[in-house]
Amino acid sequence: MEQRPRTVEGLVTVAATQFVPATQFWNGKPVFLTGHTGFKGSWLALWLQHLGANLTGYALDPPTEPSLFHKADVAACMHSVIGDLRDRTRLTSSMQNAQPEVVFHLAAQPLVRHSYADPVGTYETNVLGTIHLLEAVRKTPSVRAVVVITTDKCYENKEWIWPYRETDPLGGYDPYSSSKACAEIVTSSWRDSFFNPARYAEHHTAIASARAGNVIGGGDWASDRLIADIIRAFSTGKTLEIRNPAATRPWQHVLEPLRGYLTLAEKLHTGGTRYASAWNFGPRYTDAQPVEWIVRYLSAKWGTATKWKVDSHGHVHEAQMLKLDWSKAHAALGWQPVFSLPEALDYTLEWYQREQAGARARELCLEQIASYSEKLATVS
Ligand SMILES: NC(=O)c1ccc[n+]([C@@H]2O[C@H](COP(=O)([O-])OP(=O)(O)OC[C@H]3O[C@@H](n4cnc5c(N)ncnc54)[C@H](O)[C@@H]3O)[C@@H](O)[C@H]2O)c1
Repeated sequence: MEQRPRTVEGLVTVAATQFVPATQFWNGKPVFLTGHTGFKGSWLALWLQHLGANLTGYALDPPTEPSLFHKADVAACMHSVIGDLRDRTRLTSSMQNAQPEVVFHLAAQPLVRHSYADPVGTYETNVLGTIHLLEAVRKTPSVRAVVVITTDKCYENKEWIWPYRETDPLGGYDPYSSSKACAEIVTSSWRDSFFNPARYAEHHTAIASARAGNVIGGGDWASDRLIADIIRAFSTGKTLEIRNPAATRPWQHVLEPLRGYLTLAEKLHTGGTRYASAWNFGPRYTDAQPVEWIVRYLSAKWGTATKWKVDSHGHVHEAQMLKLDWSKAHAALGWQPVFSLPEALDYTLEWYQREQAGARARELCLEQIASYSEKLATVS
């Protein structure tokens, strides 16, 4: 009997082999990346530089001190523009000067707790900023592929055990999560209204959004991020205060979703509209662990005595249970996580400990990108 192709929203599924970002595609490719001074943006910029992309970044100054952006000298091999997403004229002219074929939109106000302190600024950057970005794309005909990065928190959180799928309702209790759900709706509207797949021959632009989990990795110095808080406390011998020991998150090494974004961009560029939709890039399902599990794991591995306690006073609402279903990315992009959570934590810990011992941040990142790429080539 003839076998019918299995499909995911009309996408023919592919063999479950890992898709490795290819130098042949990225070498010399003009790419515009917002948020290149941030944690994930710095890693993505370094990876794109490693692949030979002709890279322009657009972001505010690094949000932390120290920052991976400065420590790894990210600006060295790219054109770095320090600018505000809210400045539509500057954003548009910067994109037009770069004439990119691929756009990655990572710049955002990304912290839940800060969004309670500055909800208006959070919506201005995350919602209006996304509108400005998509309007700049409309005025830059060179663009073929756009990946808008939102978050796992864009789903209406039902505090249940099941992972969220791309088709689940969007929502958001806190201003950050809600602003990212809004950014998803904006992206979908601009795709329908101005980059409609049915009219691809007129605009030649395919737009997708990507939702990843809580990323970990070397070089994150943000406040209110678990790994950064742990490293700060353990390195100085201070007592770590954890707010929410039972909160379960889809933890993943930063390179995992970045590979998802690179894969998606390449597919959008070469496969056009077939991939123009929303995508989850989450960790293995067993790797959604509570905060306390992470603290105990890193404490046991740290090497010297560590102290931690639960600080349960006066905290704002944060989701307790959050998992992502990445079956669609697996079936249609050939993407799946390759690190277990312990491996992701080991990579992260090694990065910080070697950096503290004097290794250069740029070399550490490039070394980890290379060894991750080697691992990918061996996993099927
Ligand atoms: N870190 C995580 O665990 C995580 C999880 C899911 C999604 N995300 C998303 O990934 C993206 C990157 O997150 P990150 O962890 O690297 O954050 P980050 O705070 O390290 O970096 C944010 C970047 O956005 C830039 N930025 C902020 N406001 C801006 C503005 N008004 N104009 C221009 N640039 C501005 C900053 O300068 C910086 O380059 C964000 O969109 C975030 O929502 C992060």
